[in-house]
Amino acid sequence: MTTQIHVHVFPTSEEVAAAAAERIATVVREKPTCVLGLATGSTPEATYGKMIELYHQGLDFSRVSTFNLDEYAGLQCDHPQSYRAFMEERLFRHLNLRPWNTHVLNGTTQFPALECAAYEQQIQARGGVDLWLLGIGQNGHIAFNEPGSPLDSRTRVVALTPSTIAANSDGRFFADPKDVPRSALTAGIGTIREARQLVLLATGQKKAEAVARALKGDFSVDCPASLLQDHRDCTFLLDEAAASLLKS
Ligand code: F6R
Repeated sequence: MTTQIHVHVFPTSEEVAAAAAERIATVVREKPTCVLGLATGSTPEATYGKMIELYHQGLDFSRVSTFNLDEYAGLQCDHPQSYRAFMEERLFRHLNLRPWNTHVLNGTTQFPALECAAYEQQIQARGGVDLWLLGIGQNGHIAFNEPGSPLDSRTRVVALTPSTIAANSDGRFFADPKDVPRSALTAGIGTIREARQLVLLATGQKKAEAVARALKGDFSVDCPASLLQDHRDCTFLLDEAAASLLKS
């Protein structure tokens, strides 16, 4: 498949973050009631910093809704490694978002299937996601959609792969692999693909292979990010290290 994905390469990761925040700001200015999809992990942290700067310069988030991609199963929302806590700390508490407009899947629900179905309904009830910010795993995963996740997958409970458990316990988030939950709730590939605009961020050499597979490899469940190739409005914002395998 010939990819329709737009690719922008920047000299530094800071410029990637500035470009991502500016894209988000454009959507917020054009549609003050917009719905943003958000990601956790190391990559979007700098973008969240830039969004906070834009808020201090007058960008208004008071009518914006947000939906996060995923949450670990079994972690209370106030557990420091929960994605709810990550978002509160890195972004939500710094903006004038209304708490009831921020959505993160509940990892401790007794009824995960209901939680996932309700999440899909909440996204629909708000009119769908206008822009979903994504990261990419070294194995090509998007959200916790690991290789093999179906194109039409919806929000659901998934098992984490050993490579994702290892990547998330390299000292950045969890200190020890045994502390990483073995499963998570995640928006599906089908859920993500329904967003009107997708912006995937990748920085650093560790992401170069996954980025090359996503953009130049087959449209295949073996590399979940490659399943964005036919999206009508998808942009990859990369630093030079993450883009380094695209030229060959
Ligand atoms: C987290 C998420 C994950 C990360 C990916 C990259 O919400 O969606 O798919 O985007 O694991 O993580 P970092 O940015 O930490 O390299």
